[in-house]
Amino acid sequence: MEPSHPQTTLEPVDYDRVQHDVYAKGRALSAGSIASHMRTFAGYLPARRPLTVIDLGSGTGRFTPALAEAFGGPAYGVEPAAGMRRAAEAGAADPRVTYLAGEAGAIPLPDASADIVLMFLSFHHVPDQAAAAREIGRVLKPGGRFILRSTFRERIPDHWWRGFFPRSWAVEEAMFPSTGEARALFEANGFSTVESVEMEIPFEGPIGEMVERLRFRAVSTFEHLTPEELDEGFARIDAALAAGTIEEKPTFGDFIVFERRQDTPARTPK
Ligand SMILES: C[S@@+](CC[C@H](N)C(=O)[O-])C[C@H]1O[C@@H](n2cnc3c(N)ncnc32)[C@H](O)[C@@H]1O
Repeated sequence: MEPSHPQTTLEPVDYDRVQHDVYAKGRALSAGSIASHMRTFAGYLPARRPLTVIDLGSGTGRFTPALAEAFGGPAYGVEPAAGMRRAAEAGAADPRVTYLAGEAGAIPLPDASADIVLMFLSFHHVPDQAAAAREIGRVLKPGGRFILRSTFRERIPDHWWRGFFPRSWAVEEAMFPSTGEARALFEANGFSTVESVEMEIPFEGPIGEMVERLRFRAVSTFEHLTPEELDEGFARIDAALAAGTIEEKPTFGDFIVFERRQDTPARTPK
C-alpha cells in the first residue's frame, strides 16, 4: 500500500549539475530492454516507414538511435541540458540522429514536421506544460502520435529501492501528473487519447548490479532527498544486500498514446 503524504513542493532538477555525469552509467538499459520498448511503442504507431521522430528531453540519447533504427528516421533528440547533449553526442551518435538544444515549450523544429514525438520520463521536468502541449501539437503532422512515457501519480511504482528511501513516495507524488491531468491537458490542446497503457516491467537483475548502478544516484527523485536521507537509505541497502533480503520487484512502464487531431491545425503565430 502506498502511504499518503502532505503536499511537497519541488525545486527544478538541473541536469547540468550532477545527472549529466552519471545518467548514462546509472540508467543504462540492456539492448534487449531498448528493443522491447521499441516493439511496444511500434504497436501504437503507424506501420509505414520511414517516420520522423522527435525524442523530446532526449537526455544522453538512451533511446534516440534506437528510435531512428526502429522507425527509419530521421530522429531529433531535443534536450535543454548542454551536459546531457554532450553525453549523447559522445555516447549515442548515429548518422540518422541530430541532437538539438531546445525544450518542450520551444521545440526548434518546423510546424508539422514529425510523425512521432516521444517524451520518456522528461515531461515532469517541463515548467510550462501547456506551452509544451501546444508545441508538440505544432511540430506533429495531423494524425501524428505522441507517446507520453511517465510515472503517473496514482500508480507510483514500488521499486525494489523504494522502501529504503521512504520520502521518495511523497517526492514522486509531487513530481508526476495523474493520468487524468495529463489527458485533460493534451485533450484541451488538440489531441485525442488513443490509449492509456499500464505496463509492468519485470525485475532486471542481478540485484548486486542494480545496487551498484543505483549508487550513481541517477534518479531525479534523489535530487529532492537530503544527503542524510540518501546516506541512510544506501546504508540500509548495503545491510539488506549483505543479508540477502532485498525483494526483487517488477516496476511500471506506463505511457499514454495521444493523436494530434486532424481538425486543429496548430501553427506558429506569425
Ligand atoms: C530522466 S531524464 C530522461 C532522458 C531520456 N528521455 C531517457 O529516458 O533516457 C529527463 C530529461 O528531461 C530533460 N528536460 C528537463 N527540462 C526539460 C524541458 N523543459 N523540456 C524537455 N526536456 C527537459 C532533462 O534535461 C533530462 O535530460
